[in-house]
Amino acid sequence: MIELEGTKVRDTPVNLSDCLVQDGRPDRVEGRHVNMPIELGSTMVFDTLAEFERARDARYESGTLYYGRYGNAATYKLETMLAKLEGAEAVTLTSSGVAAVSTTLMALTRPGAHLLVADNVYGNTRAFCDGLLTQQGVEVEYFDPMIGAGIAELIRETTAAIMFESPGSGTFEMPDIRAIAGAAQKADVATVLDNTWGTPVFSQPLAWGVDIVVYSGSKYISGHSDCMLGITASNAAYAKVIRKTVMQIGDKTGGQEILLALRGLRTLKLRLDHIDRAGREMANWFATQSQVKTVLHPALPSCPGHENWARDFTGAAGLFGVIFHTTNESAVRAFVDALHHFGIGVSWGGFESLVLPVTPVRTATGWSEPGQLVRFNIGLEDLESLKADLLAALPLLDP
Ligand SMILES: Cc1ncc(COP(=O)(O)O)c(C=O)c1O
Repeated sequence: MIELEGTKVRDTPVNLSDCLVQDGRPDRVEGRHVNMPIELGSTMVFDTLAEFERARDARYESGTLYYGRYGNAATYKLETMLAKLEGAEAVTLTSSGVAAVSTTLMALTRPGAHLLVADNVYGNTRAFCDGLLTQQGVEVEYFDPMIGAGIAELIRETTAAIMFESPGSGTFEMPDIRAIAGAAQKADVATVLDNTWGTPVFSQPLAWGVDIVVYSGSKYISGHSDCMLGITASNAAYAKVIRKTVMQIGDKTGGQEILLALRGLRTLKLRLDHIDRAGREMANWFATQSQVKTVLHPALPSCPGHENWARDFTGAAGLFGVIFHTTNESAVRAFVDALHHFGIGVSWGGFESLVLPVTPVRTATGWSEPGQLVRFNIGLEDLESLKADLLAALPLLDP
């Protein structure tokens, strides 16, 4: 068993910058490297049967060295560091953000359970809820992401959990996280928040009353589009059941991914401080262009839930939506294809700018905004280059 420090719910404020530099590193021995080594391995061996049995019996506990699938020293360093950043009882890593969402929802539901899901969740979360969870006999009900405290009226005897995002994927409505978490707590229902956009740099959802926060670590946490990773950070009530579910399913994070995430974390605050400013500058710039109808960026008043963002978050990610006046599909395709500095791709939060047209899928609330929604991810390029690139292509969207 490795000694773990800092996994308890945060009682003293964590110095974010210090933690990002100092945690998740080799233990204090002389002549140590600055970084953890890549740990590769399956079998771990023990000198006595008694030691082996102790490890086997504690295999679902973070810090236990038993077998590669359960984690090694580097896994636990990263989990402990993330738990500290998040103010969580514990973090369990998974092989992707999708795996973090699906294992968490599996851990919380049973056949016959009712699951409330925000209508603007990430497409693969919706696919998992409508697919495997529904097949397993879970009743999935979508709700208006801006429902706030009104969620209380949807909670039933059988409601096991509420799944939502900050902000919604593609459409960027920022929910009233505190109101939803408060109503759920009163009814003893678990809340799961996908806070991939918010990151622990800008937000502390567990302190706001959320039970479980999930991340795609493939985005800002690793930050270089070279890593697939999922993170589940939970309070004391849910830490064990989530870890056990992930372990029983056999999900596993690779040794290289652990190191890439630790490396990405070192610059997380620096990158996000820049991206916060750059994203807002670009969002405000878009709002002045004649082809643009609305900008959906939580830091701008034009975005639904802006007041929730302003109350709770200390900054904004570089991912936002722009609704263009045009509905001419071939013009939108020509515009996207004409951009040189924006790659066309799904996974955001790296160093590179991206563009992607989005067609929201809604079943509870509908999506009635006329115009074409396009999602932009602002990376670390020169903003003048990005603007020049866009200025050259925007006339393709003129009537
Ligand atoms: C909000 C959100 N959650 C989860 C995921 C899934 O993460 P991953 O790609 O690491 O499986 C994504 C990926 O785009 C996402 O945008």
